[in-house]
Amino acid sequence: MYRSHNCGELRIEHVGQEVTLSGWMYANRDFGGMTFIDLRDRYGITQVVFNETEDKPLAEKASKLGREFVIQVVGKVRERSNKNPNRPTGEIEIEVKTLNILNQSKTPPFTIEDETDGGDDLRMKYRYLDLRRKPVQDNIIFRSKLSLEVRKYLNSQSFVEVETPFLIKSTPEGARDFVVPSRMNKGQFYALPQSPQTFKQILMVSGLDKYFQIVKCFRDEDLRADRQPEFTQIDCEMSFVTQEEILNTFEGLTKHLFKETLGLEMEDFPRMTYDEAMLRYGSDKPDVRFGMEFREINDLVKGQDFKVFDEAELVVGICCPGIADNYSNKDIKKLTEWMQRPQIGAKGLVYVKFGKDGSIKSSVGKFYDEEQLKKWGEHFGAKAGDMIFVLSGETDKTRKQLNELRLEMGRKMGLMKAGDFKPLWVVDFPLLEWDEESERFHAMHHPFTSPKKEDVERMLNGDHETMKALRADAYDLVINGVEIGGGSIRIHDRALQSRNFDLLGFTKEEAEAQFGFLLSAFEYGAPPHGGIAFGFDRLCSVMNNQNSIRDFIAFPKNNQGRDMMIDAPSPIDDEQLTELSIDVVKEEVV
Ligand code: AMO
Repeated sequence: MYRSHNCGELRIEHVGQEVTLSGWMYANRDFGGMTFIDLRDRYGITQVVFNETEDKPLAEKASKLGREFVIQVVGKVRERSNKNPNRPTGEIEIEVKTLNILNQSKTPPFTIEDETDGGDDLRMKYRYLDLRRKPVQDNIIFRSKLSLEVRKYLNSQSFVEVETPFLIKSTPEGARDFVVPSRMNKGQFYALPQSPQTFKQILMVSGLDKYFQIVKCFRDEDLRADRQPEFTQIDCEMSFVTQEEILNTFEGLTKHLFKETLGLEMEDFPRMTYDEAMLRYGSDKPDVRFGMEFREINDLVKGQDFKVFDEAELVVGICCPGIADNYSNKDIKKLTEWMQRPQIGAKGLVYVKFGKDGSIKSSVGKFYDEEQLKKWGEHFGAKAGDMIFVLSGETDKTRKQLNELRLEMGRKMGLMKAGDFKPLWVVDFPLLEWDEESERFHAMHHPFTSPKKEDVERMLNGDHETMKALRADAYDLVINGVEIGGGSIRIHDRALQSRNFDLLGFTKEEAEAQFGFLLSAFEYGAPPHGGIAFGFDRLCSVMNNQNSIRDFIAFPKNNQGRDMMIDAPSPIDDEQLTELSIDVVKEEVV
């Protein structure tokens, strides 16, 4: 037997018992004839003690153990004289009689501590050591609990878990596909699924009625803190449902997960239309933990010889409470430069400070007198001590820029409080998005998304401009400014689906070649259906107040899409290439 107990479970009531523990040597200290070792495993840390006067060779053996050696000790539990209240096992220690070295360890390249000295790349290369660190291990254990709770809840709602294939044909989620060459079908490729979208819809045609899967998805897109090339979705689809029923089911799932893992009871989630979210926050995923909502002031600013505002399509601002008196010119300059970086691209930043002493200062004081600026203040509901920031320009761009400013100020002012969870549903997304560059419509969600019932007629018969205004039965779940999930009611009518493909610029042949299997399935009695997918990694990170999903994935990729531990992607042998007839493809392309 390697162990009778784990390193996290012994307490004062075990005093006197003989126990066997196994684990890693976390730390050792020598004190006047005594060697103290912290023994660590997944469950915790237990102090084990070697007494030189009682067994000199044993104590010497212990003092020579290196960090991360794997050891087994047998000994008696005794009460500690100086207790450690910060550790659950801190009241006891083990008086060791036997020590076995189960394995040695090289000195690790970084410290295996909560706060490590290892940089990102090093930690990724030695991910197995990084995963020994408690905060990372806690994240992975949280993830495991969360997926268990997802299964419990969806099972209680009669969902069926179905595995869909990974070697498929391109799925239409809008990113690039990862492709896999086929040895048996020369010159042909599978694509890894960007999501199981088409399969889950086909399962509805099959009558499975309620489907779910916790599933890997693959997207070859630029990476950010909340994006990985392979990530996991809680993917769901339901038949004979309305949008309302889907939102209620998945609001129920979210509440269940918060309750069972964090012990938090959540109130009902507010809903906001896409248009309202853009108007109030300039974002379809607003962080509503704090206010500072947009106020448009076109009517108040035009015609005062300030050319910038006169020429702007939109003049819009936010009011930051209580910062006017401690925001220096230097701070404003820094903030303006931050807004002018190419990533944001604002031309300038106008401010008005309402000092606590009643003074009003503004960067556009030359154009607007105090009375006028006071009116702005009233419009924003500004009080003494508040500061207004205003941006202007083309509507969509300006809203995006002000969204960035609002979030930055929210961060700076400490308004994004950890542990304060503010979910909301954003609903009524546009069906189509016009892309100026390619001069064509894109599906805002995906090509199977249904227009709202009242828009079907206009979609079938309307002109180009009408198409821009079509609204879809599409929705996102947003928590603390992060898009956790998205879904829609699907088109189940072949004529409407064809019209959608037309609008998206597919010829009949292209639509047939890509989605013929789905269109055929729809001819055999497709029920009305809809669904949603949550980003599982994002849900884990948001629930733990973290920005990066990487630490909730056991073996993540870095920002270049590389797995540093196994060193992938990597070249493959010529022989393998020939077998896959990749060279043949190369020649054909040339
Ligand atoms: P969508 O493309 O919105 O919808 O994806 C659903 C959710 O998946 C998460 N997500 C990601 N997480 C990490 N890394 C990525 N690269 C990444 N991309 C997406 C997000 C997102 O909200 N088939 C549809 C769902 C449906 O209509 O039912 C779909 O995939 O949290």
